[in-house]
Order: sequence, then structure tokens, then C-alpha cells
Amino acid sequence: MAQLFTPLTLRGITLKNRIVISPMCQYSAEDGFTNDWHLVHLGSRAVGGAALILLEATAVSAEGRITPDDLGIWKDEHVPGLRRITDFLKAHGAVAGIQLAHAGRKASHSSPWKGGAVVPASEGGWTTVSPSAVPFTENEPAPHELTLAEIQQIIEDFRVATRLSLEAGFQVIELHGAHGYLLHEFFSPLSNRRTDQYGGSFENRVRLLLEVTEVTRAEWPTELPLIVRISATDWTEGGWTPAESVQLAKLLKDRGVDLIDCSTGGNVPAAQIPVGPGYQVQFAEQVKREASIPTGAVGLITDARQAEDIIASGQADVVLLARESLRDPYFPLHAAFELGVDVAWPPQYERAKPRRR
Ligand SMILES: Cc1cc2nc3c(=O)[nH]c(=O)nc-3n(C[C@H](O)[C@H](O)[C@H](O)COP(=O)(O)O)c2cc1C
Repeated sequence: MAQLFTPLTLRGITLKNRIVISPMCQYSAEDGFTNDWHLVHLGSRAVGGAALILLEATAVSAEGRITPDDLGIWKDEHVPGLRRITDFLKAHGAVAGIQLAHAGRKASHSSPWKGGAVVPASEGGWTTVSPSAVPFTENEPAPHELTLAEIQQIIEDFRVATRLSLEAGFQVIELHGAHGYLLHEFFSPLSNRRTDQYGGSFENRVRLLLEVTEVTRAEWPTELPLIVRISATDWTEGGWTPAESVQLAKLLKDRGVDLIDCSTGGNVPAAQIPVGPGYQVQFAEQVKREASIPTGAVGLITDARQAEDIIASGQADVVLLARESLRDPYFPLHAAFELGVDVAWPPQYERAKPRRR
């Protein structure tokens, strides 16, 4: 039996297999609202057989959006559209998850296909915020250094977003602590130059992520899982390290986090990243082994046997697929066939199901 198709129970939620759709910004929202694109895009991947579908980085405040086209979850009005999506995902056998995010100093940019540049205030952009007034690149305006009161407001924004996520029918929350967005900016010494209780030592740099985790966990029902995505390394001298990720994972585990999704990089443009098949799996393996917590592996996982090997060898508990799932929304159904596992196809598609002779 392929291990990729064994169930995994996290608290009161059982994933039917180990394939998770990694969060992917669609840059297709207006004022944070979902529309038919999000329903069809996410719904297709539920029909395609993934166990858990994580919505794209969904901003906990308008200023927390990477682009003006990001999804948001900062007001009650966002809930019905999200509910329509979670209803569909659940009706088609997937678990519905949402990635809660604040983009920090990487906010207020245009969408990739609109050029990806900083959006100035005159064109609807806004001043970005960060632990310190250090821009992501030299050419960008320096972000505003958050005051202690503003940090408290951001924690509150995550609390409200957690409540709204529950109202919208989500069953899993993933906190976005990766890719150089706000929570990562705090724990990485490359972007955090603070001298107060949120900067300096490891304990101070991880404080914001831990506080956000605590309010989220307190607001989120005990029977529902909480995931944190981290960048497990900055791939940069003097930056965040895998050893610190292990230490952080232990603290997150103590606070009721159920799985660490191990990505990397994104906090400094000059990082040297040895990109290749499964290049980040090693971090999922290290965190799982050294912090004794379930992990997710992500990054250039594109093949059924590769995914099966990661799970079967115990390197990670789930695999997250991004680009491969854009190429093939039915990857899980195809992978099951390739690995010789009989999984149910949607009855509407049953006549197309491949059969072994
Ligand atoms: C179109 C696109 C949008 C993405 N948006 C997000 C996002 O919202 N949140 C996030 O944590 N990662 C995001 N990522 C990164 C993916 O989740 C994933 O970590 C990365 O693409 C590596 O996996 P892959 O090789 O399977 O694509 C995005 C990637 C793509 C291709």
C-alpha cells in the first residue's frame, strides 16, 4: 500500500491522503473578496483528490496584503464568499484550510503580471510595516518600524481573522511565517534590528510568532489543527538557520501547533538557493526528527514516486504541491493510479477512470 494514500489524523480532522495543495496567491481578488475564479481554482483541486487545500496567503488586514489583488479576511463581509468555497471543498472530500498572512515590508506591490513593482500611495498603495526600517531591496522605500501598540494591533488582527476563518467553515489554519513576510521578518536577524523585547536574542525575535500562535490557538477550536509555515533557513550568512527552526518548532509544538510546513528563503533577494528536486525536504526531515513534530515538505515535488518516497521514508508527514498542481489539478488521482492505489473518482468523472487490466 502506498504510504502517500494513507490517512493522517491531526486533532479531530482526518486527511484522506498525504497530498496538500500549497497556498498559492491568485492575485484575483478585489478589496480582499473571493470570486468565481477562487471557487473554480480551489474547487478543481478538491475534485482532483487532494486531502487538504490551503487557500492562498489571505491578509489579516488591508495593509497586510502583498498586492491590492490579494484575498483578505479582515471584515465580516469577507465570510460568505469564503464559506461558499469551504462548502464546495468539503462537499468534494477535501479538508478546507486557510493561510493567514501579513506581508510586512513586502506589501503594497503590484501583481506579478502587472510588473510586481512597489505601488505608490498615489496609485492606491500604502506604507509598509516591518520590525525595523530596513527595505527588502535598496530601491524600495523603507518600511515603517512598528511601535509596540501597532504590534499589539497586528496580533489582534490575527485573532479576528481566526474567528472569521471559523465562521467561514475552515477546518485548518496555517500561519504564514515564511518567505520574508511579517512574521519571518521578525524572527530573521537580517530584517529585525530592534532593541526592545521583539528584537535581538532568539527569544525576542520569535516572540511575535509565538504570540500570534497563542491568540490563534486560543480562538481556534481544540479539535481543529493549526499549522505554521516557516522559512527554515535564510540561505544567507548571518541569517536564520535550520538549528533555530528546530528550536522554534519545539516552542510552537508546546503552544499547540500540530504540523510545521517547512519552506525556505524569501527574506533577502541575494540568498543563494540550491534549487532542485525536493531541495527543501531535508528541513522537513530535520525538524520532524529533532523537534518530534509532524512536518510538511514542499518545493519541487512533482512526481508520484518522489512524493511516495518522502512519506514512506518518514522524511515528512505530508507533501505540499504548488506548481505541479497548477499543471495537473488531478495529480492525486493520477498519482494513485501510478502507485496502484484505488481511490474514488468523482462519480461525474467515473467513466474516465483508468483501470488496470
Ligand atoms: C503562483 C504561486 C503563488 C504562491 N503563493 C504563495 C502563498 O500565497 N503563500 C505561500 O506560503 N507560498 C506561496 N507560493 C509558494 C508555494 O506555496 C510553494 O511553497 C512553492 O511554489 C514551492 O513549491 P512547488 O515547487 O511545488 O511550486 C506560491 C507559489 C506559486 C507558484
